[in-house]
Amino acid sequence: MEITKICCIGAGYVGGPTMAVIAQKCPHLKITVVDLNQERIDAWNDENTDNIPIFEPGLSSVVAETRGKNLFFSNDVEKAIEEAQIIFISVNTPTKTYGKGKGMAADLKYIELCARQIAKVAKDNKIVVEKSTLPVRTAEAIKSILDNTGNGVQFQILSNPEFLAEGTAISDLLNPDRILIGGDQTPEGQKAIQALVDIYANWVPQDKILTTNVWSSELSKLTANAFLAQRISSINALSELCEKTGADINEVARAIGMDTRIGSKFLKASVGFGGSCFKKDILNLVYIAKSYGLNETADYWEQVIIMNDHQKKRFADKIVKTLYNTVAGKKITFLGWAFKKDTNDTRESAAIYIADDLINEQAGICVYDPKVNQKKILADLDYLETRSAAENAKSTKSFENPYDACQGAHAIAVLTEWEEFVDYDWQRIYDAMQKPAFVFDGRNILNKTEMQKIGFVYQAIGS
Ligand code: UDX
Ligand code: UDX
Repeated sequence: MEITKICCIGAGYVGGPTMAVIAQKCPHLKITVVDLNQERIDAWNDENTDNIPIFEPGLSSVVAETRGKNLFFSNDVEKAIEEAQIIFISVNTPTKTYGKGKGMAADLKYIELCARQIAKVAKDNKIVVEKSTLPVRTAEAIKSILDNTGNGVQFQILSNPEFLAEGTAISDLLNPDRILIGGDQTPEGQKAIQALVDIYANWVPQDKILTTNVWSSELSKLTANAFLAQRISSINALSELCEKTGADINEVARAIGMDTRIGSKFLKASVGFGGSCFKKDILNLVYIAKSYGLNETADYWEQVIIMNDHQKKRFADKIVKTLYNTVAGKKITFLGWAFKKDTNDTRESAAIYIADDLINEQAGICVYDPKVNQKKILADLDYLETRSAAENAKSTKSFENPYDACQGAHAIAVLTEWEEFVDYDWQRIYDAMQKPAFVFDGRNILNKTEMQKIGFVYQAIGS
């Protein structure tokens, strides 16, 4: 089968950037990204590429270069499916909020809907690629839907997990550590794998393209995220011990990171990891392990999440305790709301949970984030369903600039590692705050000595 057209279902943080880079590197292919959400597609088609719905360094210029040439964003899902030989599925797979596996298993309803739609529309053979992170063996379910509801056409299902991290998505896509493609070990399966290998080979060296069976590929993605998250929980667990003993977690991380067997990356103590993947993927792993009766394995991985929740909770507790055991009626300013720097994504951001705890203590929360607006912040809080939307709106206010946000504050909590925070005029901020002026640095990005010299009571994680 000659590949000339690709369709991607889901124009989100994964589908959008991934397809933009494929379009840039494969000018001979026509790529259509479709989404049920009309508003999102309209934003992707905004004349000014700075208004595309996802903020990601370098993305808007790749979109500007390719959009309308060989990259298209559309709501016409059926047409895009029908004409494509390869269909990527990159819709979201949230954790189930109901029924069996509630709070743990991935909700596959969107994936199933996609499979049914593909089955209905397809008139010729298709390769269907799982790009969303999925529980192991989802490919099997997709295949069964396609084979039993389709009109006799042949489907090959591939697993091609995404390893990009938000904030560095474009460089991760351009220079991946590896591309992983899982498929059936049959001749047809191998042909489908080769078709996808050929696409990536346009810019990725062959020795970085790994092929395997579907299940190994699916499980590798969950495992990679579980290992990364585990490193953060490990260092965070020790950050608490450092605070008790007078050791400094940054020094510990530096010392162990120089052991090449351990490596220096992903050892930054923080207020806790966020993002759409880590928690969800580990919960998934835990659910699968439990469903096979592997309770020790399940408990082992669940501890990574328990530790992460503890880290967020303990940060909020520390703020309350330090502010003389009460924050009622006090103004606490958050610098950062996104789950990490260089993204406007807030899913599972530690800031949400810390705000929730502090609002329970009747604090007023002021927020400045360079890329997140008031609407999103309130939507994140409302989603927790701790209190009414009106109460959230009364307790939380976001600002257009950091100096206004910090005016009159009792304390500042640094919750995202945006680089611009380091360069602020901290003397000016100090002068405008209530005294004593507290800074709780949840990302360890500010200079402790300088902050103390200005007069701040400064507390970092793990020292
Ligand atoms: C990611 C990854 O794909 C997934 O692996 C990860 O586990 C979590 O989410 P992401 O691109 O970050 O997806 O999600 P999101 O930004 O929510 O985008 C998904 C898009 O799919 C949304 O725009 C949504 O409107 C769209 N969608 C969802 C459809 O078009 N059809 C559906 O049936 C469901
Ligand atoms: C992650 C994986 O890195 C990526 O490969 C996968 O495809 C999707 O999930 P992402 O969630 O976008 O990517 O960001 P990542 O850089 O992994 O950060 C996740 C969270 O961990 C962030 O909240 C970040 O601030 C935090 N983190 C990261 C730490 O607290 N300390 C660290 O040392 C590293």
